[in-house]
Amino acid sequence: MPSLGWLITLSTFILLGSVVYQNQQKLLEPITSSLAFKVLLQLFEETHCYVTVRTNSADLPHAECFSVANGKFKRVFLDETSMDIVKERRKGHVIPGLWDGHGHLSQFGESLDSVDLFGTKSMDEMKQRLVKYKAGHEDAGTSEQWLRGVGWDQANFKGKWPVAKDLDIDGQFKDLYVMLDRVDVHCIWVSEKVLSLLPNPLPEIAGGEVPAKGVFCDNAMDIVMKYYPKPSKERRTQWIQDAMFELNKLGIVGMHDAGVFPSELKLYEELSTSDAWTVRVYAMAECETRNTFCAEDVTKISTPNGNFHMQSVKLFADGALGSWGSAMLEPYSDKKSSSGTLLVNATTLSKITHEWAHAGYQVNIHAIGDLAARLAINAFEEALKTLCPGSTLRECQAKYRFRIEHAQIIHPDDQQRMNEIGIIPSIQPTHATSDMHYAETKLGKRRTSEEAYRMRSLLPLKPVFGSDFPVEPADVFQGIYAAVTRRSPKTGLDADGQTKGWYDDETVTLEDALEGFTVNPAYAAFLEGKAGVIEAGAYADWIVLEEPLETLDTESLRNIKVKETWVGGKMVYRAASPMEAPW
Ligand SMILES: *[C@@H]1O[C@H](CO)[C@@H](O)[C@H](O)[C@H]1NC(C)=O
Ligand SMILES: [Zn+2]
Repeated sequence: MPSLGWLITLSTFILLGSVVYQNQQKLLEPITSSLAFKVLLQLFEETHCYVTVRTNSADLPHAECFSVANGKFKRVFLDETSMDIVKERRKGHVIPGLWDGHGHLSQFGESLDSVDLFGTKSMDEMKQRLVKYKAGHEDAGTSEQWLRGVGWDQANFKGKWPVAKDLDIDGQFKDLYVMLDRVDVHCIWVSEKVLSLLPNPLPEIAGGEVPAKGVFCDNAMDIVMKYYPKPSKERRTQWIQDAMFELNKLGIVGMHDAGVFPSELKLYEELSTSDAWTVRVYAMAECETRNTFCAEDVTKISTPNGNFHMQSVKLFADGALGSWGSAMLEPYSDKKSSSGTLLVNATTLSKITHEWAHAGYQVNIHAIGDLAARLAINAFEEALKTLCPGSTLRECQAKYRFRIEHAQIIHPDDQQRMNEIGIIPSIQPTHATSDMHYAETKLGKRRTSEEAYRMRSLLPLKPVFGSDFPVEPADVFQGIYAAVTRRSPKTGLDADGQTKGWYDDETVTLEDALEGFTVNPAYAAFLEGKAGVIEAGAYADWIVLEEPLETLDTESLRNIKVKETWVGGKMVYRAASPMEAPW
């Protein structure tokens, strides 16, 4: 029989417990705000509430709160219980963290450490930027550390290719090692000092061109790259960190790295365990020798923290449109003698695709011209026929998820084939708006209207959207604007200087564009349910905006600034608030 004392103790506990419960905000505050308690709670879960949360999830498309545990979303819910006053005090509107489906991480970091030549309108302006850069970077241009730049375009030099001599600026640059990437990174332009390192005469390289003394395109870039001094591990690490910092600022939480050499993959793997690694990377391996099978140099990987994944390979069928490098079924309209350059023949492309696929890799082929796209689809189709006996090509493709990188110019018959098989197009909406000024000159009216820069036509294939940074700015909202309007995010205008949009029947909705930068890249990286979505079990990656996306007018899309970026439940970027004094 329980003693009286015991009963009193019990009822006191119950009474005290209910008082504590009713006033828990007040009474428990010292406890809940104590560090020990917070640490303890964090082991379980942490709840975040915002004015609105757009989840991209069918279960609960619009929510207000979510909880996070171990870097993943645990619960997503509507907070029906909080009073209006609590809701009013909340700040910001949340969408899932953004993914860039095709970029180049190290090159982006390196571009931050080199001369920015984008937008230079003349040779003079270009030279001025080089001189200005050199004045601030004493050590750039030595034989150990070449002066690097990116963004030139011969279209801005009155259509004439530049030459090595042009880089001897005012006699000052004579002894400098200079290497500048063309705007599409498919050609490099080097100084005389670099030329002096190369064999004479230059070797013939299949799938490459040397259009002027000092300019090397596509496979011919290898002639120079053999002599390019390998940057130290410290510099490469710095580039990656700088790149990630810039990407976080733009609300980017993940990216597909479209071509990473085996040595670089090792560095990624090593760095991906550190706290400084704040962008998830899905890498496509690129062999030291392009378009080969080098499975013994790489390993498939998916780190437990979800920071780094590698199970795909990048192959290159052709070059780029701007330098007449894309391989076309018919000659160029403004250069009838040429239909571009294949970097690899059809037999070899199919053979390597087959080898990688049978080794269990997703194969992603760079194809810009309509011939390149056709050969890529042929290669995929042939591989799929042998990969999954007893399944349809479509079922097999759902397993392997082969992709065409750029998917820029595709014959209508081949668009049809892609639709039938389900081949994933990886598209850069800002390439369309950057190229719109010359695309029709190069392709003619029919090809431009039926084949080029399709977006809406390819929507059933759940296209992956990206920027190809550093080729284009990494800002996802510029990509969304370009896809939604088919107008330049820089000027707001189309190729005619109007606001109709360039071939505006290929625009997509805001909804579709957002999917292109969230759930579609997740699927194309075998990360569906883990990335691009706010739902239980997914990586706790989100960004905070000032206004809800759907209420913004189209014009303000291209100027959106991200307030906060969170990766794995940790804040990795926060904009300086104009309301808060900086001191
Ligand atoms: C394709 O290229 C490979 C490797 O360069 C070569 O061995 C082969 O003969 C070529 N095939 C055709 C049909 O040209
Ligand atoms: Zn690229």
